[in-house]
Amino acid sequence: MTQPVSLRFAATDLEALPGQEGRLAVVVAPDGKLSAPARRVNRLTKGALARMVAAESWQKVKEGEVITLAFPQGLAAEALDVVVLSRRPEPALLRRTGAKLGKLLGEAGMLVLAGNLRGIEDLALGLKLRAYDYDAQKTTKATARGPVTVMAASQPETTVVDALAAGVFFTRDLVNAPANVLTTQSFSDQLEELRALGLEVEVLDEPALKDLGMGALLAVGEASVTPSKVVVMQWKGGADEAPLALIGKGVVFDTGGISLKPVGGMEDMTMDMGGAGTVAGTMKALALRKAKANVVGLVGLVENMPGGNAYRPGDVLSTMKGDTVEVISTDAEGRLVLCDVMWYAQERFKPAGMIDLCTLTGAVIIALGHEMTGTWSNHDAFCDSFLKAAAAEGEGAWRMPLAQGYDDQLKSRIADMKNLGGRPAGAVTAAQFLKRFVRDETPWIHLDIAGTASIKAGTDLAPAGATGWGVLALNRLVADRYEG
Ligand code: BES
Ligand code: MN
Ligand code: ZN
Repeated sequence: MTQPVSLRFAATDLEALPGQEGRLAVVVAPDGKLSAPARRVNRLTKGALARMVAAESWQKVKEGEVITLAFPQGLAAEALDVVVLSRRPEPALLRRTGAKLGKLLGEAGMLVLAGNLRGIEDLALGLKLRAYDYDAQKTTKATARGPVTVMAASQPETTVVDALAAGVFFTRDLVNAPANVLTTQSFSDQLEELRALGLEVEVLDEPALKDLGMGALLAVGEASVTPSKVVVMQWKGGADEAPLALIGKGVVFDTGGISLKPVGGMEDMTMDMGGAGTVAGTMKALALRKAKANVVGLVGLVENMPGGNAYRPGDVLSTMKGDTVEVISTDAEGRLVLCDVMWYAQERFKPAGMIDLCTLTGAVIIALGHEMTGTWSNHDAFCDSFLKAAAAEGEGAWRMPLAQGYDDQLKSRIADMKNLGGRPAGAVTAAQFLKRFVRDETPWIHLDIAGTASIKAGTDLAPAGATGWGVLALNRLVADRYEG
């Protein structure tokens, strides 16, 4: 897995400045007043900082900007990065600014002079999250990124920052991996390795799933040579209270099956296990920071392929719940996987809350683009606490409706329901389908991350490709709602 850069907090030691190689970053307030470390840098560079803040152009400088002076005289560093931040910036701004440093970070590492800046954990997290390259499939590796030292007035623990970065990187690596590398087998192998962190991990194989009656999930994976699996990951950090259940769609590749997808863009369907990847990354983060809560993650791992034994449009499948489903499109496979895993999670764990994550519909991208995850829920208070956690982490999420009229679109002539509600409101009817597999007493949130799990353009905190959307929000939800 891609290792996050090593980062430590240290007391300010001005004697280290002249000899620091790599990059030197120094925080300067927008009012141009220089802190003690900044004054030292100024002296060593024969007044470069004083001239910068006295220049007319400084008036146009905005908080969060990073201004680079290359090969500054008086320093061994290859670059001096002036980081414009006031004393108490918003966490989101700190993360974005840290991310700019993470993007600049090279082989020789970085020393950050933060002075008395508040919230340096957020600066550190942003830096770590952006210093990510997926180069596992390249013969020429990305340049390694050296270590980072953040010198500041106080030195907080790095446990949580390290846990979150490792969790997000795990998700991104899984989502970025191609389908010939990340099969259901190699995926479940990687999840089994989480046992080393104290998670209980069980792998249910096809015979076990058959015994449980998961006819919908098994139909989707039928024509693949890589076997269908459900992996259960339990983190027992709480007392004996019912757990929060996180459910992930893990379609390692989605060809559409017999309802074959068109050629253009099919290669993107390597990310169709994004829900399962997010659940895995979240479980890893919770275990690494030893969360004081009970959380169980369940992922349905399948590959949706055409073949002589593939399920077909018109087939009627029997779910673990017992309800029957008429298949209209074999490309609406995610809901068939999730409905069985969700039912199993409720039967076995009687969870205090259940959240499913899935790259479920193209329609949610039409509705919300790549900015927001489509969010549905049967429980206002539960949903509000999730939306609050997501907003606090800067992860976009927007609540969408559920209503009888949408459910009516799923009526089937020959079975209990169809797996497709037609073109109108495609993301909503997918949510309605899942809702049929939620018990009345289970508070439930459905997150359609088709637009947010992987983005071609890159975001503030991630390069192009997998984002790791949701790991931070879910971690915060657990901290806010389940840990004391
Ligand atoms: N995995 C796709 C949804 C998807 C689309 C994810 C784009 C990420 C990016 C899902 O299984 C699918 O094929 N959905 C179909 C549903 C249709 C058959 C009703 C879609 O959105 O076109
Ligand atoms: Mn599909
Ligand atoms: Zn899919």
